[in-house]
Amino acid sequence: MSRRTIAFICQNCGTSHNRWQGKCDGCAEWNTLVEEGAAAGIGARPAGPGKPPRKGRLFALEPLTGETHDAPRLPSGMPELDRVTGGGFVRGSVLLMAGDPGIGKSTLLIQATAALARAGHRAVYISGEEAVAQVRLRAERLSLSDAAVELAAETSVEDIITTLSEGKLPRLVVIDSIQTMWTDLIESAPGTVTQVRGSAQALIRFAKRSGAAVILVGHVTKDGQIAGPRVVEHMVDAVLSFEGEGSHQFRILRAVKNRFGPTDEIGVFEMTGLGLREVTNPSELFLSERHLGSPGTAVFAGIEGTRPVLCEIQALVAPSSLGTPRRAVVGWDSSRLSMVLAVLEAHCGVKLGGHDVYLNVAGGLRIVEPAADLAAAAALVSSLANAPLPADAVYFGEISLSGAVRPVAQAPARLKEAQKLGFARAVIPEGPRGETSDAGLTLNSVGMLVNLVSDIAARGEKPRRNAPKNQGEDG
Ligand code: TYD
Ligand code: MG
Repeated sequence: MSRRTIAFICQNCGTSHNRWQGKCDGCAEWNTLVEEGAAAGIGARPAGPGKPPRKGRLFALEPLTGETHDAPRLPSGMPELDRVTGGGFVRGSVLLMAGDPGIGKSTLLIQATAALARAGHRAVYISGEEAVAQVRLRAERLSLSDAAVELAAETSVEDIITTLSEGKLPRLVVIDSIQTMWTDLIESAPGTVTQVRGSAQALIRFAKRSGAAVILVGHVTKDGQIAGPRVVEHMVDAVLSFEGEGSHQFRILRAVKNRFGPTDEIGVFEMTGLGLREVTNPSELFLSERHLGSPGTAVFAGIEGTRPVLCEIQALVAPSSLGTPRRAVVGWDSSRLSMVLAVLEAHCGVKLGGHDVYLNVAGGLRIVEPAADLAAAAALVSSLANAPLPADAVYFGEISLSGAVRPVAQAPARLKEAQKLGFARAVIPEGPRGETSDAGLTLNSVGMLVNLVSDIAARGEKPRRNAPKNQGEDG
């Protein structure tokens, strides 16, 4: 006879404890333990009273070589979405679409489901959060009503799987959201880590068996109160993160994990009154709000995945009244900013110790490339010296700790995009001329950061009325 045991599972990280305690041993979070049936964890078999233990079944082991075929894909017909998934949804795979509540996950997925249904595939949208009427209303507003999407408002995983296994198997199943799903096999309340994991597992089994592409929607809660979808990240084939800032209309879809494609591509969307619109040329979007001729802004020619993206980097350097000046950065790595500031101080004589420094990447983009160093440095010095940078220039280059400007990958693609958008010059690292010489732009190569700093400071000198003295320049 098996005895039913009780465990206390952390809702933040999934660590199991024998008794209740205030603080989780695994992640050190407070008040996250919830009592759950212990036999219900991941990999546990259905706990039924008096069931005899099952004898294992023999299965064949296979060599690494053998018949393989490309993962069959199901393009969604939305190029920005397909770019991020790597060419479409893979049959039999499970994808997690994670994002803050209200960012537009349901909107994006109903649009994708409708696009697939219009292409003649059986596409099912199951909402555990909204009533059918609500989903219909939304579809109507997005003018998708004519698409043959099959809708349901359901939360029981067993019911869903039984229904979907009837008749022709669906090609795409959207489950909105995994936090609202529950399975009979587990006794915990819906939304707990164990339920989320158990439900995801059942749906993953369904995907593998049926060959349908299953998309799980997962809300990311910042305070970790409700089980985050993080606990299923390792079980699914791909994790896409849908990001954006409340104040901006732009939404960025990013692959965090992808077993069948690249993870560095981004898809850019704009939230309009008629749903999400795909933005095919993100550079134009990110540069659309530029204020030409104001000091402290520089245009960075970056690469996101395989495509060049131009964006504006804004800096504000202002005298500080605090003992320890503030350093705040949005859209870029704060340790990278510290490094650039240190190099400016140590090698270029730019004194920033008494100044607050704010750096922002316009449009809600998040840059991870070190190639943005030069643009950030240019924006910082421009703000400090009150010297606007030329409006028709783009910047890219990595800064080393010695103050040298180092070459970065894919320079020709960056320059080409800049030229396409009407820029006339580029400030770039010194390097082999050959590949960048026919760019159609005036190239201004800098070997040491200090040279760029003195150039910018010199520009600030001419119209100077109340600009700071002796700052931002040394050599
Ligand atoms: P939604 O897709 O419901 O977000 P999620 O599923 O990620 O929680 O989108 C919610 C927001 O999107 C809501 O605040 C309103 C806005 N929205 C529009 O601006 N236009 C539209 O056409 C739609 C459908 C939503
Ligand atoms: Mg939703």
